[in-house]
Amino acid sequence: MKRYEALADKIATLIRSGALKAGDRIPSIRQASARYSVSPSTVFQAYYRLEGRGLIRARERSGYYVSDKAPRLLPEPQASQAVATSSDVTVSELVFSVLESMQDTDIAPLGAAYPAAELFPLEKLAQSLARANRHVNPSSSGANLSPGNEALRRAISLRYMTSGLSVGADEVLITNGALEGLTLALQAITEPGDLVAIESPTFYAVLQIVERLKLKAIEIPVHPSEGLDLEVLSEALKNNTISACWCMSNFQNPMGATMPDIKKQDLVTLLGQYEVPLIEDDVYGELYFGSTYPKPAKAFDELGLVIHCGSFSKSLAPGYRIGWVIAGRYQERIRRDKLMTTLSASVPAQLAIADYISRGGYDRHLRRLRHFLEDQQALMTSAIASHFPAGTKVTRPRGGYFLWLELPSNIDSLALYHACLAKGINLAPGPIFSATEDYGNCIRLNYGQPLGQITSAVEAVGKIARGLNQ
Ligand SMILES: Cc1ncc(COP(=O)(O)O)c(C=O)c1O
Repeated sequence: MKRYEALADKIATLIRSGALKAGDRIPSIRQASARYSVSPSTVFQAYYRLEGRGLIRARERSGYYVSDKAPRLLPEPQASQAVATSSDVTVSELVFSVLESMQDTDIAPLGAAYPAAELFPLEKLAQSLARANRHVNPSSSGANLSPGNEALRRAISLRYMTSGLSVGADEVLITNGALEGLTLALQAITEPGDLVAIESPTFYAVLQIVERLKLKAIEIPVHPSEGLDLEVLSEALKNNTISACWCMSNFQNPMGATMPDIKKQDLVTLLGQYEVPLIEDDVYGELYFGSTYPKPAKAFDELGLVIHCGSFSKSLAPGYRIGWVIAGRYQERIRRDKLMTTLSASVPAQLAIADYISRGGYDRHLRRLRHFLEDQQALMTSAIASHFPAGTKVTRPRGGYFLWLELPSNIDSLALYHACLAKGINLAPGPIFSATEDYGNCIRLNYGQPLGQITSAVEAVGKIARGLNQ
């Protein structure tokens, strides 16, 4: 990251956290240059960027000020109140109907699980795919069976190494998106009827997989900024035989929480005491705001009990369906299960992504994507503050592309969902994120969408929500 970008991020964080408020004067170029030990031109470039993002503005002969348009902070929702009791999981028809409505391209996709396609380097990827197809030797497909294409596994390993996590290419197993890795992982470590600790609220696919594998779930509450409640998990481990724990340690879907490193370490230690494997779903890790990649829990795994799952679906190539698993002591079992189910991930898609990464530019794309998402989050937060009913609470994730909203308690998010759908806007209603269909007054919104669409769609949803808040 360039120096001016790091400085811009530092000041943006002060503004977004509320430490600097609308109208506050920020240091002059000369003051900032001395305070942050950077050249005046670095400060100038940083301020130029912040101005472009609508966070500050220059007043003639008077300096730089935090813009009135900088996002107003709304209160954060409380930690979820899930009660840790075990239950069978039956995913309602609702999840399927919400998923179907997301496939309708005429509908504003505030409920979508992926960012808009135009945010990805599709043309460059297509060139890589064409190159890969030109050079692919059909007789080499055997070499790309599980664990997968070696160049791609090396590229993934290198990315972990440069962020301080030692993962060898031979520890990486390529899968059809993270979802296949997660499913294979859960299948490898459980038998039907076993109990699995999951987050609440959680990504609805977790519920679908738990149901399909005929497992039981025990829901552990999530705090909106710090993630899984370890005290409740510890009690649950004491009082139940739990076979696995599934957790999104970074930018949890839907709450956006990222566990602090120390908490990730405590989680790994706690589960280690009970020899319970952790399935770590880290598909959003690359989409951090600010300057540092948040470590995965896998970084603290000394026993080989953490099965870490990643993916290019959210950061580079949504439709290519390429993810990976780093499974510690379960690696060979999962590799064999994969060979017995889908054999390998698509060879051209693996080669295309390996080719794209080898040409450089992935980090540049990610930097651009992260800045875009951070700006869109600010825009959406401002629009929510302006248009949603008083009493609305919203999360403040430091990465990813979801906001989780807690609406006044008399608003039924399903009624809101149906009313919005009728107006051509899709959102993700709270009950699809829990086995017990809680979160009846919560919604998840996706801000990974092109600029213009967000504010008008949020304004329309806010208006309908105000109508339901009578
Ligand atoms: C938390 C989480 N895990 C996994 C996935 C699926 O990832 P992939 O598309 O790589 O299968 C998603 C997609 O929505 C997700 O939100």
